[in-house]
Amino acid sequence: MEQSANDSSLITLSALRAMKERSEKIACLTAYDASFAAVLSDAGVEVLLVGDSLGMVLQGHATTLPVTLEAMAYHTGCVSRARRRALIMSDMPFMSDATPLRALDSAAALMREGAQVVKIEGGRVMLEMVRTLAERGIPVCAHLGLLPQSVHKRGYRVQGRDPAVASTMMEDARLLEGAGADLLLLESVPAALAQRITAAASVPVIGIGAGAACDGQVLVLHDLLGVSPRQPRFATDFLTGNSGGIAAAVASYVRAVKDGSFPAAAHSFE
Ligand code: KIV
Repeated sequence: MEQSANDSSLITLSALRAMKERSEKIACLTAYDASFAAVLSDAGVEVLLVGDSLGMVLQGHATTLPVTLEAMAYHTGCVSRARRRALIMSDMPFMSDATPLRALDSAAALMREGAQVVKIEGGRVMLEMVRTLAERGIPVCAHLGLLPQSVHKRGYRVQGRDPAVASTMMEDARLLEGAGADLLLLESVPAALAQRITAAASVPVIGIGAGAACDGQVLVLHDLLGVSPRQPRFATDFLTGNSGGIAAAVASYVRAVKDGSFPAAAHSFE
């Protein structure tokens, strides 16, 4: 559906910032194709993340590392052609942001397909890339905490329980925002640390396994639909037992994020 950039019903970065200011929670989900993008957006999801998790849930890889820029651009195009209202954020795949110049080229490839925000993984090591993208007018989300692209170095472990790691993450969040990041995303971070980062940040903070205090929540769609082979502790299957089908399951997720009932303590880490 073609839309004008001035359509006030469209979710923009300033709409997300306004939601943070009025403490309205932001609902985000991964989407990889046009059909689901339409269902999710119509169910009230504000941000569609074309995540490199597609390497695992669509392509069957063990990690996100084999995902190419071409694959990310292809799926970004599939999602953006079905866009109704939600903002579209796409992951920069492994090493596509290794230098400022590569990051510019990679972000351009995703934005040409309809991405409105690009997400990069990493703390202060990514400052130069974030600054370069921001200076060229490209919105960036900085992903901190558990970094799936660094799995071979850091594992799939909760990050920030150690006080030194926690204070580095706090500082990284501040530096990344200062470099121009428009959004932060925290994955598998103790709830109390995520709460401190969210309170200190002026930009919206989206969490996954990071407790209920974040400004918004994201899940991998396949976890929400209960079709992942192994359900992470921070996810919930909203489909099983929901007689309304997929659209109703997504709508229940959106409601639960908005009313603060998801994530519960059982989905969070200390
Ligand atoms: O790729 C992805 O789906 C993600 C989420 C886990 C946040 O980055």
